[in-house]
Amino acid sequence: MQTYVVSILGAVFALCMFAGSAVGKEAVTALSPDGRTAIHLAVVNGRPCYSVTRDGRRIVDDSRLGFLFLEREPLNRGFTVRGMGERQVDESWEPVWGSDAHVENRCHEVTVTLEKGSGLTMDVIIRAYNDGVAFRCFVPDQEGFRSFEMVSEETEFRLTGDHTTWWIPADFDSYEHIYRQTRLANVEAVATPVTMRTEEGLYISIHEANLTDYAGMTLRKAPVGFSLECDLVPWPDGIKVRGGAPLVTPWRTIQMSDTPGGLVESHIIENLNEPCALKDHSWIKPMKYVGIWWGMHIGKDTWSQGENHGATSANTRKMIDFAAEHGIGGVLVEGWNTGWETWGSAGAFDYITPYPDFDLEGLAAYARERGVVLIGHHETGGDIPTYEDRVEEAFALYERLGIRAVKTGYAGGIFPRGQHHHGQWMVRHYRSIVRKAAKHHIMLDVHEPIKPTGIRRTWPNMMTREGVRGMEYNAWSDGNPPEHTTILPFTRMLAGPLDYTPGIFDITFDQYKPDNRVHTTLAKQLALYVVLESPLQMAADLIENYENHPAFAFIQAVPCDWDETRVLSAAIGDHVTIVRRRGQEWFLGSITDEEPRTMVFALDFLERGATYEATVYSDGPDADWLTNPQSYEIRTLAVDASEKLEVRLAAGGGEAVRFVPRAP
Ligand code: NOJ
Ligand code: CA
Repeated sequence: MQTYVVSILGAVFALCMFAGSAVGKEAVTALSPDGRTAIHLAVVNGRPCYSVTRDGRRIVDDSRLGFLFLEREPLNRGFTVRGMGERQVDESWEPVWGSDAHVENRCHEVTVTLEKGSGLTMDVIIRAYNDGVAFRCFVPDQEGFRSFEMVSEETEFRLTGDHTTWWIPADFDSYEHIYRQTRLANVEAVATPVTMRTEEGLYISIHEANLTDYAGMTLRKAPVGFSLECDLVPWPDGIKVRGGAPLVTPWRTIQMSDTPGGLVESHIIENLNEPCALKDHSWIKPMKYVGIWWGMHIGKDTWSQGENHGATSANTRKMIDFAAEHGIGGVLVEGWNTGWETWGSAGAFDYITPYPDFDLEGLAAYARERGVVLIGHHETGGDIPTYEDRVEEAFALYERLGIRAVKTGYAGGIFPRGQHHHGQWMVRHYRSIVRKAAKHHIMLDVHEPIKPTGIRRTWPNMMTREGVRGMEYNAWSDGNPPEHTTILPFTRMLAGPLDYTPGIFDITFDQYKPDNRVHTTLAKQLALYVVLESPLQMAADLIENYENHPAFAFIQAVPCDWDETRVLSAAIGDHVTIVRRRGQEWFLGSITDEEPRTMVFALDFLERGATYEATVYSDGPDADWLTNPQSYEIRTLAVDASEKLEVRLAAGGGEAVRFVPRAP
């Protein structure tokens, strides 16, 4: 159900609302429904700028807005206000899948039309939500602005203190970095979401929503103050964004919350995207999956042909049997198609020719008969022209065979050279693949992607993506430190779901690679299924490590599509505990960094009056990620909403709990 209350104010009233102390300054405000959060737009001596307040306190000081172009008038100065309109957005909607079954979208929106002496106009749209603010610009098709080549977006974020900041470096091709925690003054150039805590304890995260036909935004530290400024990912010729009018920017978003958990519970990024574009989405189904994958990363199998080829028909049938027996929805197969021997060169893959030892048609039928979804794999190696040429044929083949999900990959530099993974050209590519996949009823899991910006609301077949330093790094590098997954929910995951690929039970895999390991306990691997959101959620280990393993029961039971999500407690980089509900059942995931901790949680999220059987998967008393990672315990107890649960986490550990209501 959607209800919009729209009121367009006349220019006369608009001018009355404009107020300002400084000479030549006019300001207008959008105020959140709860009255705590406001975004103000002002025109100061002809220059548009915005500021943000929370409870009357300045969070963002007057910061400039605007654009510079090749051979076009600059749109950052010389403006007066021509008019304005406002509306209250008050709607609720039901995502096809996600962290909550029901989402409220409530904000105050003000649109201000600015005009230059030449007559050129630009709208700035500001929105205030209870959980943050957003703004975007719209430059209509008009005389003097039929097309454009933008050389700079001038947006600034002038923060008001030297906040504690969690960030990864701006990298135009990858988000696969370890997070750093520094003061804002020590930040260099960052990717978004970038998350901060003020001295007063307010949590702030800057990101963008609805990145559709524009360059990805990175932020660089301005030379003075605590200011970040927009640095868009360029085309090879240095242009940032090009196209025909109108120019519509993504939303620039500033989430705010009194707690770190409030950032996770927010839906502001999805709310800033359009409603679902698909009439029929019944074919979109979240699922867990296993796959021919980890074996390659730990060196047991190969993608390419040879005696250790992973994607053989026999191996795939075993996987399908395992999935069918254990209620796992999907089986990913990497290395099924020819081209891996020349991976990285142009034209290496055609996406339709299987290796001779992989019976594509037969295996697709074998999976279908057992109710298992075969997940195809399209590794492009960054060779975009070849992929764009062949993808329709490949999707059509998959559709005919009933292969309803594809993992895509863009490992390596982009062809044509000079294009970046996060530039406008690739943003257009990624979006075109989402549309084509939808046409062929295919769900997507994108690796080396553009960051999520909430488009899953519009295109719910865009299920999950990497864009994170995921599990694979533990297989062939120093790996991810224990605190990594206690930072992800408050940074990368604020943008959207992540295909981190949890669930490694053979934590040291010494048989294959004695010098690499996962920095975790076994129980923490289970907890990640609740902490990290992904509608396609992998059980990443070799299936032989799951056979007859008592802890696998949790992976079988845990959903990957939720009716309700709450963060019980968190300290970014230290620990986080999340509970999620699906139907009548609740699941709890609690994880810590390298510090052991004991915490007590009220179970008041459970339904009052009901008794639940809680199955607790905890670290063993002697568990420790470094010295004894495999030690775990499983116990069951009867609990109700009036009780408390003590959670004891080992160093680098975690705990996972399933709560099932008992029949009355
Ligand atoms: C990198 C991806 O992240 C990984 O999941 C995949 O196995 C390899 N590329 C090969 O496509
Ligand atoms: Ca990767």
